[in-house]
Amino acid sequence: MKFLITAGPTREPIDPVRYLTNRSSGRMGYALAGAARHEGHEVVLISGPTRLDVPAGVDFVQVETAQQMYEAVRDLLRGVDVAILCAAVADYRPVVCGSQKMKKGADRIVLELEKTPDILGSMRSVFGFTGKLVGFAAETNDVIPYAQDKLQRKQCDFIVANDVSRSDIGFDARENEVTLVFPHHLVPLEKDTKEQIALRIIEHATIVPS
Ligand code: C5P
Repeated sequence: MKFLITAGPTREPIDPVRYLTNRSSGRMGYALAGAARHEGHEVVLISGPTRLDVPAGVDFVQVETAQQMYEAVRDLLRGVDVAILCAAVADYRPVVCGSQKMKKGADRIVLELEKTPDILGSMRSVFGFTGKLVGFAAETNDVIPYAQDKLQRKQCDFIVANDVSRSDIGFDARENEVTLVFPHHLVPLEKDTKEQIALRIIEHATIVPS
């Protein structure tokens, strides 16, 4: 099968030397790419900036902004059987990015932000993707209800939900504990390394419904 996986944070520039980003390390997405490759699949990994080594045998596309990730996903979807969108894409970006470094001046300044393109939400409705679609939902509260809502709205096959209010799992941690949220059932996966969790997710993503 052919997999497309997004990973890591995005960086949204404010000026040539500053940007908005988040704490995503990219580990979960890179573990998914490695696990899919290990299982013999063809893998394209589209990643924002991380410090990680690209798993062997994986096609790699480096991006920086949400807009670049959106375009890379759109352009590389042909022939993809399973798309797993794991990247922690910035929800907002500065409306203007100055061409010169902003100077320090007023005591308070306002940075105007606008929404970035919703990649997961575009997969079915804009890109016409008909393969298996897996999204992630990182929440600090009401994790399962939010994931169930996202599953419906973004027309995913399942959502990997995790609680990012805990520092021992999820964002920037080596381990994760997630629940796979399907339309009619939940599959809790016990706390484990992101590599082991990734193998379980790949298993579920490759099950062909009977
Ligand atoms: O709505 P929320 O940002 O929590 O959704 C998370 C899921 O949506 C993840 O799978 C993430 O990769 C994806 N996403 C996206 N494009 C965005 C924001 C989130 O693909 N602009």
